[in-house]
Amino acid sequence: MIDAFSARADADEPVTRATTSTPPATTAVVHGERVPARGEESAMARALVVYESMFGNTRTVAEAVAEGLTGFGDVEVVEVSHAPDTLPDDVELLVVGAPTHAFGLSRPSTRTSAAEQTASPLVSPGRGVREWLDVLAHNVNGTVAVAFDTRVKVGILPGSAAKLIAKRLRKLGFPPATPPKTFWVTGTTGPLRERQRDEAVEWARGITVGSRW
Ligand SMILES: Cc1cc2nc3c(=O)[nH]c(=O)nc-3n(C[C@H](O)[C@H](O)[C@H](O)COP(=O)(O)O)c2cc1C
Repeated sequence: MIDAFSARADADEPVTRATTSTPPATTAVVHGERVPARGEESAMARALVVYESMFGNTRTVAEAVAEGLTGFGDVEVVEVSHAPDTLPDDVELLVVGAPTHAFGLSRPSTRTSAAEQTASPLVSPGRGVREWLDVLAHNVNGTVAVAFDTRVKVGILPGSAAKLIAKRLRKLGFPPATPPKTFWVTGTTGPLRERQRDEAVEWARGITVGSRW
């Protein structure tokens, strides 16, 4: 257990480990808790994946993104309620993902609406990415960021949570490592469209940050 993430970890948050067909040099995927990586070194690069999710689809993408990043080094996945308001100094890459609600980021009212559409508890019953970004400290460590969202592919429905996240991250001083990305769901509660999980892994593998990537 370490630092800012473990300080907010709840016992009911599952710890999952990313798996790849070719075992990476290092693997560490968690929800609020860090799993030590194989062959871990002290100067390892570090990435943080923060997600919001109602029905689990965006969480699935976040975990796929972490899987795609495992060659990088130390990767942590945190549900937004448990995300630190000030990033640890050594986070080089921040990835933020959320479902698109009402053409943008969720609000308390849209999360209430989501809760009415499922008999299961929401994955993110607390604050959303919008509220987290309201309190996230300005970037002073040179951390770069990328954003993704999930959306329903219906005609030309406009609006993307990822674009709004990217805009707000830029205002907070996080330069973009790559343009915002959408992953598609089949309907409001999901599941993800075919191959979207694989696409998320591939997308993450293509993210490069400085000389380490
Ligand atoms: C209240 C509400 C509003 C939504 N508005 C939009 C929208 O404007 N555009 C869109 O593409 N999808 C919209 N959706 C569908 C969500 O994007 C979809 O539920 C989400 O991608 C599922 O991811 P999750 O399981 O991580 O919550 C909406 C869903 C809810 C519950």
